[in-house]
Amino acid sequence: MIDKATVQKIKDTADIVEVVGDYVHLIRRGGNYMGLCPFHNERTPSFSVNRRKNFCYCFSCKKGGSPVNFIMEKEGLSYHEALLHLARRYGIKVEERELTDEERRRQSERESMLVANEWAMRLMEHDLTETDEGRDVGLSYLQGRGVTDEAIAAFHLGYALDRGSHLTGSALKAGYPLDVFKQLGLVGTSQQGRDYDRFRGRVIFPILNTSGKVIAFGGRDLKGGLAKYINSPESELYKKSNELYGIYQARSAIVREDKCFLVEGYMDVIGMWQSGMKNVVASSGTALTDGQIALIHRFTDNITLIYDGDAAGVKASLRGIDMLLSHKMNVKTLRLPPEDDPDSFARKNTPEEFRAYVAEHETDIIRYKAQVMLAEMKNDPQQRIAAINSVVESIAHIPDVVSRDVYIRECASLLGISEEAIAKAVAKAVAEVVEKRRRERMRREFPEAMQPTPVSAPGTDVAGVSGQPASAPALPHEVRQQPLAVGLRTQVFPLARAEQALMRYCVRYGYMPFCTQVDENGSEREIDVLEFVREELDVDGVEYTVPLYAKMSELLERMRGDFADAFARERAAADEEAKRMRAEGIREIAARDLSVDEIRREEERLAAVIAGRREGRLSDFRKDWPGRELLSHENDEVRREAAELLRERHHLSHIYSREAPAEREEDRLEILVPRSVIELKGELLDIRLKELMKELSEAVDKGDAEEEHRIDVEIRDVMTMRKEIARDMGERTLSTP
Ligand code: UTP
Ligand code: MN
Repeated sequence: MIDKATVQKIKDTADIVEVVGDYVHLIRRGGNYMGLCPFHNERTPSFSVNRRKNFCYCFSCKKGGSPVNFIMEKEGLSYHEALLHLARRYGIKVEERELTDEERRRQSERESMLVANEWAMRLMEHDLTETDEGRDVGLSYLQGRGVTDEAIAAFHLGYALDRGSHLTGSALKAGYPLDVFKQLGLVGTSQQGRDYDRFRGRVIFPILNTSGKVIAFGGRDLKGGLAKYINSPESELYKKSNELYGIYQARSAIVREDKCFLVEGYMDVIGMWQSGMKNVVASSGTALTDGQIALIHRFTDNITLIYDGDAAGVKASLRGIDMLLSHKMNVKTLRLPPEDDPDSFARKNTPEEFRAYVAEHETDIIRYKAQVMLAEMKNDPQQRIAAINSVVESIAHIPDVVSRDVYIRECASLLGISEEAIAKAVAKAVAEVVEKRRRERMRREFPEAMQPTPVSAPGTDVAGVSGQPASAPALPHEVRQQPLAVGLRTQVFPLARAEQALMRYCVRYGYMPFCTQVDENGSEREIDVLEFVREELDVDGVEYTVPLYAKMSELLERMRGDFADAFARERAAADEEAKRMRAEGIREIAARDLSVDEIRREEERLAAVIAGRREGRLSDFRKDWPGRELLSHENDEVRREAAELLRERHHLSHIYSREAPAEREEDRLEILVPRSVIELKGELLDIRLKELMKELSEAVDKGDAEEEHRIDVEIRDVMTMRKEIARDMGERTLSTP
């Protein structure tokens, strides 16, 4: 039980922006904050957070409430558990009884690891200030480096006594089984079989995850020993590449400032934090990973890399920037004076001076890269080309076309190359990047969709397979005899409706010219509706799941050659007709008694009429051909479906003929077709999202926070993809005629 006063304290302390900020990337809107609702899938933010009322609410799914309500809902906790969760989150002490043996046994491995780490952290925190050795060695070291009591408390800094088996013995005494501590790398076993403390005589930096749980430790040597730092090994709890030192302490400041500083070391984080720049995290001496970027991206789009001012720091700052740019992060870099790292710089300067330095020296990463490359390349042409390519590659990773243009212009002048040359190289690199990036992601998200649609076995007709995937239960005999209505199909194929909508445009308008597209060489090409759809599906490795549509799509592709022949014949006939009409018309005009001026005007009118007629005839032919062919196809299923897809059109064109021409479907294809592609891909992603949501609730049930976090990150990825579908399409398409 928690006493009343503590409950009140928890409620008073829990800040809705911070609590929600652990889960949602919030954007400030006036006095409030908005973000994507964490309780349902959405593309535009409807989740609002009111700081003054300490209350959140989703206008769409209506979930929300106080911080306690939010945690109950989000973590699937009881009221009591949610209070405890918040108490831990804010470091509020709650009197809890000791666990019974039974309860301790029942805790999952992960939980007991968390408990053990938490216990070890408290022990070492205690030992830093409450033992002579801790004070004389650990605390005095920290104080000597200017670390304040406030920072020591906020970062839970500790000291591991230099006693061989102090922690080991205390753990045993407290009734903890030692194997957990061994898994965590806190306890080691000597060759003689003796258990000992792995961290000895070191200042301890606990590494917390976003919800404030201790997942690992770093321990700094104080005696000039071999390893300056030893760190916890990877474990069930600690996947190094997905964590960042300081994220827990920085999180709300990152959201508030809408920006994150990235530094290298534990001490750098603490130094900057003390200087008032609390939105700072460290990658702990390793190259930045995708997982770490995704973690930062949960809180902001803006990141500033701060590296040591020396040459190694400059090199390091250029590493991983393409990855950051691909994540749609706005990346800046800050170069410190050569003799400084963030920690020493923070100590030498007042917070105001540090801030002023940041404002003055923060440089956009691509500009920075171009400058560094420029300084390096001297006059060696080989180096010059390599440098330019490397900058071009980085620019290509920026997803936004407008910003890319800005960089192209700037880098052209910086590097002394024509804008056109850079633009061309970038276009080529973009095509490659877009292709690669999306293929990778699709492969990861939809391994099934990357498999080719199974082709029917020889002897089986399409009608025979009736769009049945192998795993679905066979339909009753009567049902199979019926025409394959989409209503039925959707029971088996969740994407049938979206696929049908797309196929409808292909059957109706497949060979109509559609848009200009950029290909891999950066050059432009006219494509028709069918090609557009095909390429849009290919680029994401999407296949029709309904075999009938896969078959029809393939038929339409294969018929293009026949169409080209037929169209050539039609054009010849149309030309013939035009010639005949012209001859007749001219004869007719000549027969009338007209002035020279009138004759010229009449002939012009005649030419326009004939050209219009010819155009209309060819366009009708182009439009009608695929449908007509499919309607007379030998396969029953194909015929029936083609009729179904074309049926509405006769009906509609009847209506449309009385309406404004702008209302006609075929005049709005440039909107309708891409929308239909987006819907199909969106539904594919929705299916994946639903799976993930299910996995998430299972992980919540199991109390597996690690798994939950992983799934959460993946969900965010999929949601990002949802948003990106439309943009990526726009990127490949230059213009519509
Ligand atoms: P630094 O050597 O810059 O350490 O390594 P630091 O944090 O600035 O420490 P001080 O200022 O010398 O006390 C940067 C980071 O690389 C990791 C640590 O995370 C460290 O903070 N590192 C470094 C290790 O994990 N092991 C090492 O042996 C060295
Ligand atoms: Mn340092």
